[in-house]
Amino acid sequence: SLEYSLRPKFLREYIGQEKVKDNLNVFIEAAKMRGETLDHVLLYGPPGLGKTTLAAIIANEMGVNLRTTAGPAIERPGDLAAILTSLEPGDVLFIDEIHRLPRAVEEVLYPAMEDYCLDIVIGKGPTARSVRIDLPPFTLVGATTRSGALSAPLRDRFGVLSRLEYYTTEQLAQIVQRTAHILSVEIEDDASFEIARRSRGTPRIANRLLRRVRDFAQVRGDGTITLPLAQEALELLQVDRLGLDHIDHKLLKNIIEKFRGGPVGLETIAATIGEEAQTIEDVYEPYLLQIGFLQRTPRGRIVTHLAYQHFGMEVSHRE
Ligand code: ADE
Repeated sequence: SLEYSLRPKFLREYIGQEKVKDNLNVFIEAAKMRGETLDHVLLYGPPGLGKTTLAAIIANEMGVNLRTTAGPAIERPGDLAAILTSLEPGDVLFIDEIHRLPRAVEEVLYPAMEDYCLDIVIGKGPTARSVRIDLPPFTLVGATTRSGALSAPLRDRFGVLSRLEYYTTEQLAQIVQRTAHILSVEIEDDASFEIARRSRGTPRIANRLLRRVRDFAQVRGDGTITLPLAQEALELLQVDRLGLDHIDHKLLKNIIEKFRGGPVGLETIAATIGEEAQTIEDVYEPYLLQIGFLQRTPRGRIVTHLAYQHFGMEVSHRE
């Protein structure tokens, strides 16, 4: 599909994450030279930074199949056994949200990762016995928003640990231009930078905003995305100058107005704005922490003076 072709297929086409790319290039080339399977790779970092894309690139660069699944989708050890026994030698198995694998499944994964085998218990009670099944060698690519949420035994079984970082404005502008080219839409350079600045360091957001701005350009303009058109469209989309959307606003203003800027606990914030605590922690907080609008303290979250300034508000607490 078009959606899929937007994603780069090779490391050399992938913009940003230079350290991750440099390392992967070496490990992939070395594995290929030795005719071996690539070691297991753990990708971690905030959502939307390209973990799924990298998994697909790794499989493509190694010349093997990609199998994709997610932690919560593998409910029982048998589900994992079915996937592992159907792989071809060298294949990449991508498990998104790997921190959400059930514990019993995780335990099946350890010998699979370490020795390419499964220890299956057959029968119950006194006649139960364990059977060992050999697996084809494979590469596990795990993705998680929080490496800290992973159990130590699982984390220790990855040979490559790569942390994805937020993208710079320049990198995001390049990604916007690349995507615009693939979508056959004309975009002026300053407009691509405007979208980039408002994308919270995240390609997924940049590409989503590009599509919405393209809709405006098509209906309200002559199809070309100019700076004024991008600015007008982004205002209408309620994306502010820093890329904060109405949920970011709600979160920050709630802490300011109801809790005098904090400190206030995550669960309390979640309850008062009607979002899941986990979603706030994984999706909204990382960028607000990164730009220094929010701080985590042992007593709870605190909104900083930078956020007050952004809203044109007087600081209501002692930081
Ligand atoms: N599209 C989304 N993320 C990308 C990236 N990092 N490089 C190139 N194109 C992308």
